[in-house]
Amino acid sequence: MNKNIPVITIDGPSGCGKGTIAQLLAKKLGWHFLDSGAIYRAVGWAVLNAKLDPAHHAALNMLIDQIKIETHASSVGDDAKIIVNDHDITDEIRSEACGQMASITSAIPFVRAALLDRQRAMRELPGLVTDGRDMGTVVFPDATLKFYFLANVEERAKRRFNQLKQKGKHVTLPDILRELQVRDERDSNRLIAPLKPADDVVLIDTTHLNIEGVLQSVIKEVQNHASLFGVSKLL
Ligand code: DC
Repeated sequence: MNKNIPVITIDGPSGCGKGTIAQLLAKKLGWHFLDSGAIYRAVGWAVLNAKLDPAHHAALNMLIDQIKIETHASSVGDDAKIIVNDHDITDEIRSEACGQMASITSAIPFVRAALLDRQRAMRELPGLVTDGRDMGTVVFPDATLKFYFLANVEERAKRRFNQLKQKGKHVTLPDILRELQVRDERDSNRLIAPLKPADDVVLIDTTHLNIEGVLQSVIKEVQNHASLFGVSKLL
């Protein structure tokens, strides 16, 4: 196992800004970037595409057994293209429907178990920055530095609403708010790998910070913890 390779994890609920920051940090460090939500979304997409009832576990198990998920980043730290069974679904998986189905299927233990090795295999030199719900608790419990982002749900809904509007999607703020609340509730209360901070996290409340503000706080923490990485200066 690649235990000596440094990992920085960022966990938190939907819309708290962890994906954007994890990717920016990976680029700054020149490290790999794991968007674990994209892998769960790929499964959500496949379930929707096959018109499968996720409560039908035998059929879901077969789908998981046969699914081919490929992630291709053009360079270190870049957003990866997501290819499922030879379909490029990079844009499609960002839909709310894929997010909800990802949240439903990710609560099923055999789905999580099937995706565990794939995520751990992303731990490659020179290092890995990850974004998810259980990165610091389950997938990389020995991560070098762990962050947990919070933000109030109204602010997260506003951010998601603006993002989707910019992409030309027809959405309403109350719908987005309701969907986020449903997803938070499901992701936090599932029996396996629920969304919760690991014991040893650095907590950052992003409610009143913009992207630059969050990035600066994270960079400061990384610099303060440089000794954990065996160096005197990391950034
Ligand atoms: O981060 P995201 O919105 O792309 O994630 C979509 C869903 O995938 C989320 O609601 C729950 C699930 N997920 C998970 O269970 N564990 C992760 N590490 C990442 C995502």
